[in-house]
Amino acid sequence: MLRVGVLVSGGGTNLQAVLDAIDSGKIRGAAVEVVISNNPGAYALERARSRGIEAVCLSPKSFDSREKFNEALLEKTDEYNLDLIVLAGFLVTIPAAMIQKYRNRIINIHPSLIPSFCGVGYYGLKVHEAALKRGVKLTGATVHFVDEGMDSGPIILQKAVEVLPGDTPEILQRRVMEEAEWKILPEAIDRIANGAV
Ligand code: GAR
Repeated sequence: MLRVGVLVSGGGTNLQAVLDAIDSGKIRGAAVEVVISNNPGAYALERARSRGIEAVCLSPKSFDSREKFNEALLEKTDEYNLDLIVLAGFLVTIPAAMIQKYRNRIINIHPSLIPSFCGVGYYGLKVHEAALKRGVKLTGATVHFVDEGMDSGPIILQKAVEVLPGDTPEILQRRVMEEAEWKILPEAIDRIANGAV
């Protein structure tokens, strides 16, 4: 059984998609052992708690320095003996020590077709604002391994989504989630759990 930890900052709809996929058997051989958030108000923590999954908040604000926070984050993930760390809307830079220790065992979901609209400053709604501003007709989502760069690690899965006339960033974000993110994130976890990546 692949022991998975999910790191979140916000609403946690991707976390929900993963939990639902485990329940429905779309993800085979994996269990979410812990959900960790930097944000005490993250609804994702509620989603975890209501499923009986351990929900932990580690806020950088409650540490004297970023180094101390980074150490605590690594200690916490180590505590759960995780095989895979899933960044599902986690808006905190992953400490270098964690990337080294968990090489090829940290994956991230990003709401665009990398290498478009990714890197520093591209997260959440900003990604969709940029896509609409550029006038692309196709966007999508990407699941990739996390390396030292920003959104630069090896790509595992991508799915394209159409941009439609009249789209606002919010409408496009929702379509990208529904048609791409909530599908390819569970699929990537299933593939990793079953040796297909
Ligand atoms: C998702 O759209 C995810 O792709 C994005 O944040 C959102 C989190 O939503 N991640 C990034 O932009 C990372 N660069 P959720 O909390 O409802 O899953």
